[in-house]
Amino acid sequence: MILYDKQNRAFVLGGKNYSYLMHVNACGFLQNLHYGSKTEIGDLGYLISHIGSKYAPVKSDLNMDCLFDVMPSECGSYGRGDFREPTVVIERADGASMSRLRYASHKITNGVYNIPGLPHARSGGQTLEITLKDDFSPVEVVLKYTAWDEYDVLSRATEIRNAGKESVKLNKAFSFCAELPEAEYKMLRLHGSWAMERMPEWNSVAHGVARIQSLRGASSHQMNPLTVLFDGEPSERTGECYGFMLVYSGSFAITAEKTYFGYTRVQGGINDIGFRWELGGGESFYTPQALLCYSEQGMGELSRAYSDFLRERIIDPAFVNKRRPIVINNWEATYFDFDAEKLKSIIDAAAPLGIDTFVLDDGWFGKRDGDTSGLGDWLVNEKKLKGGLKAVAEHCGKRGLKLGLWFEPEMISEDSDLYRAHPDWAVGKLGQEPVRSRNQLVLDFTRKDVVDYIFGVMSDVIKNNGISYVKWDMNRPMTEFYSNTLSADRQGEFAHRYILGVYSLAERLTAAFPDLFMEGCAGGGGRFDAGMLYYFPQFWTSDDTDAFQRALIQWGTSVGYPVSAMSCHVSVCPNHQTGRTTPLSTRGNIASLGAFGYELDLTKLSDEEKRDIKRQILDYKRIDALVLNGDLYRLIDPFGDKWFAEMIVSKDKTEAYVVGERLRGVPNDITRRIKLDGLDPDRNYTVEESGVTASGKSLMRIGLVLPSLADYESFAWHLKAVK
Ligand code: DGJ
Repeated sequence: MILYDKQNRAFVLGGKNYSYLMHVNACGFLQNLHYGSKTEIGDLGYLISHIGSKYAPVKSDLNMDCLFDVMPSECGSYGRGDFREPTVVIERADGASMSRLRYASHKITNGVYNIPGLPHARSGGQTLEITLKDDFSPVEVVLKYTAWDEYDVLSRATEIRNAGKESVKLNKAFSFCAELPEAEYKMLRLHGSWAMERMPEWNSVAHGVARIQSLRGASSHQMNPLTVLFDGEPSERTGECYGFMLVYSGSFAITAEKTYFGYTRVQGGINDIGFRWELGGGESFYTPQALLCYSEQGMGELSRAYSDFLRERIIDPAFVNKRRPIVINNWEATYFDFDAEKLKSIIDAAAPLGIDTFVLDDGWFGKRDGDTSGLGDWLVNEKKLKGGLKAVAEHCGKRGLKLGLWFEPEMISEDSDLYRAHPDWAVGKLGQEPVRSRNQLVLDFTRKDVVDYIFGVMSDVIKNNGISYVKWDMNRPMTEFYSNTLSADRQGEFAHRYILGVYSLAERLTAAFPDLFMEGCAGGGGRFDAGMLYYFPQFWTSDDTDAFQRALIQWGTSVGYPVSAMSCHVSVCPNHQTGRTTPLSTRGNIASLGAFGYELDLTKLSDEEKRDIKRQILDYKRIDALVLNGDLYRLIDPFGDKWFAEMIVSKDKTEAYVVGERLRGVPNDITRRIKLDGLDPDRNYTVEESGVTASGKSLMRIGLVLPSLADYESFAWHLKAVK
């Protein structure tokens, strides 16, 4: 809901459980009045006169600094008395960067706003666009909000328009600014590294600026573009919290600034370090979208709100609820060392197990027997694969499997025909020693000719070999941030233009191949963000498939992202990343909390293991609808406990699936109970595995006794409502 109250010059925005209120104060500044718990519209008067008046300047104060610095603002500006970090910094032709942004007009429309070239919420809602004009230049800042009655997510983005003739420079262009009332906030960082993505860490928000960011050209393994500010001690089931997520896959920053008067300003968007955008007369700059989310029932509710929103408004509706293919991926089975016979033997072994798709990973193209060569040469290596991809596809067809294929579209090896022909296509200054990572360079996706070329070669391979599934990988961070075609004064645009190029390729591929299923990947989960999920319904969560570490990674990832977006495979033991051995059943149970598949050499399995895998696949097919559509409840936090447990409940609450794993048990924990969540308290449920029948209320309040297990053993329970 979005309303404009003319008398109070106030905007009332609201969703399922929150309100977001602003008004235009006596000086024409757009001031935030309230963000949080749902309020009555009748309370507007009290909010303006009692809460808002504390900071509201009166007309004669227009040039005083004292009030701007404490006013909860919808867009922080620079150089006129707001001494907090600004939301936008616009350098005029005369070199001045001060701006005084005041309300000029607004517009309320049905539906979402478009952000050219960037992923964004697809449909529904109502949109408010408020235009602020700078008093000292012809620049306009348009703040965009979409609110949906059925969600607790509010989308925000900013458009900066240069209505003048002379160019201006944007030195900072964040997507949103939100001012939270005084509280002792704890701030979440989903930090990590390769094979250890999205580890939750909470810190108190102290005075000054707390910043999470990536400067790697990708949203990164190291820090996810999502934070939560929790009022008090974070809890799954109770308490007030605010989520801030960017629908963006490049270098980002989100800051939380606690000021001397207690408010905390949270804002974020494209990382301003190294960013500088020349905005010509008559041009507009569009920031990425941010998704703000409010919960007054703790982290669990916040996560479910984000999950619903991403599934229903961000991820491609053509795939989001479609049964996901169960894949066998050959990476950990073979690495680069395979030939057609080896692949065929894996396909042969997969067929009787119920696997749907064979995904051929890195190493099928160019001269690619290791990671030092071949990237960019997207032509099958017929020496290695006799008969080419066609033969592999045909063999898959014979065995009733589909063929998926790995690409790393954004990369180039120096030892490749592509590089020999176009050395200037690599990122970095030609002739200057480049930074190598995994022995490879990055292709300059700020260039349309480069993106056109990659689109052409990928399309040919996909078309000519009946590829139904693409795994799009990206295995190194960005360095140099330099294009050989951008002019000197535009190199500051590089990082953002690069991501626009990535999105344009993804957009073109999804448009050209509407039935093609694409999985994202970035050296594991190094670009697991809402921007990528717009194009890829699922993302490879991590290269770490160890059933202990994976439980942690999936737990952290679920803070903001739906389980259906997490690609999860069962791999071999000892695990290739951690060396740990865990039971096959546990690897299966943990992987079943996501989009399921396998990544091991099926030809080396014993008959018993094959039987177990066949059973796992059948079991998974019983619950995959829950993974796609259900609500996740995190039950036992593996970061603070010796167990891990999560459950998924169907939307109609007739079915539930619980998975638990004992991580580092202690003696005598045999009487320990687990309290379930999300059930209908007034219904009875039967636990299929034990035959126990009890009311939802008892299962949630009293709980079930955990089974006696050894470390890394696990359980899976299927609950059905009794008719
Ligand atoms: C990193 C990915 O995460 C792996 O699954 C695999 O595809 C390799 N890259 C291939 O180079």
